[in-house]
Amino acid sequence: MIRQIFVLLHDKRNIYHIMNEALSCIRKPIEDDLARYRDLFLQSLSHDNPLLDYALRHLAKRTGKMMRPILGILAARAFGQADDKVLHAMVSLELLHTASLVHDDVLDQSDQRRGQQSVNALMNNTQAVLVGDYLLSRALEHAALTGDVRVVHAVARLGNLLADGELLQIYNTSLTEVEEESYYKVIERKTASLFSTVAYVGSLLAGAPSEHIDKLHNFGRILGLCFQIRDDIFDYNSTADLGKPSGIDMKEGKLTLPIIAAVMKPGNDAERALALKVRAGEATDQTVAFLTQFAIQQGGVDYAYQAMERLSQQALSELDFLPETPVKDSLIEYLNFVAQRDL
Ligand code: FPP
Ligand code: MG
Repeated sequence: MIRQIFVLLHDKRNIYHIMNEALSCIRKPIEDDLARYRDLFLQSLSHDNPLLDYALRHLAKRTGKMMRPILGILAARAFGQADDKVLHAMVSLELLHTASLVHDDVLDQSDQRRGQQSVNALMNNTQAVLVGDYLLSRALEHAALTGDVRVVHAVARLGNLLADGELLQIYNTSLTEVEEESYYKVIERKTASLFSTVAYVGSLLAGAPSEHIDKLHNFGRILGLCFQIRDDIFDYNSTADLGKPSGIDMKEGKLTLPIIAAVMKPGNDAERALALKVRAGEATDQTVAFLTQFAIQQGGVDYAYQAMERLSQQALSELDFLPETPVKDSLIEYLNFVAQRDL
């Protein structure tokens, strides 16, 4: 057992190492831009109101892998410079994303985010909602600082889509059918929208022609779908901590692609009925554990990998028009990273 844990921890360290290597290659052509972005982002995360400052400093401790700003800055650099407007736009979008996660943890009653306490766990629900509101309004301020109404429009549209996606996810719990379309509708809104918006805004502000902006926009969108499908597959992997799949999504009543694919197969009517119970929040932990194994055995996880592979190829073809440059290489590596990441 101890040996098993050691091997798992060792593997995890290796995975971190490989992932960090991949990310530093991706970031290489935009290191300076990212450093400027990070300074500007962190400036937004302090305040003279003690409660607000407490929450903001907490959030500043774990800023994540900066996946979205990296994509937006690469999209800008594919056509020109990442000037202050681009940086303000990226800060705006990251603040909006952070606001949505702070609110999401209240909705999901989650006490963890990015390996640390969620704001609602650190403080309480009331204060977390207000912190999220503050972040949202700072996001609008940075959008305005670009002086470009198209950016303000994009940020507002993204806010619409995120809230729309969350509500659609809730609405879907009342559906009596299990099918892929409703899954894709939710992930288009709650995940792909962010990636498509950063790529759109980055290329837009760098002055790309509209047909090229459309290509980057679509690249971000498809890549965002891959990101969420990969994220959803994680729930079916054994973790070092648990030694078995966590099944957290199903415990939260969410049906993702692996289980949807498995229960849609002909003859799996009984399991489809169980999946509907999961979605209605009426399933026990044993049912979730059973369905998780069922999805794996029925090839649902393989199906999700194949869907992601098809989408990756589509995303890649959106970049065909770009000249061969280190920035294009980074965009391609970014896509590979999203589809193949292990953490
Ligand atoms: C995480 O999803 C949550 C989102 C991607 C979006 C949350 C959006 C809102 C709460 C509404 C919009 C809010 C604003 C401020 C405009 P998840 O719960 O599936 O994943 P997780 O495991 O990361 O929590
Ligand atoms: Mg959540």
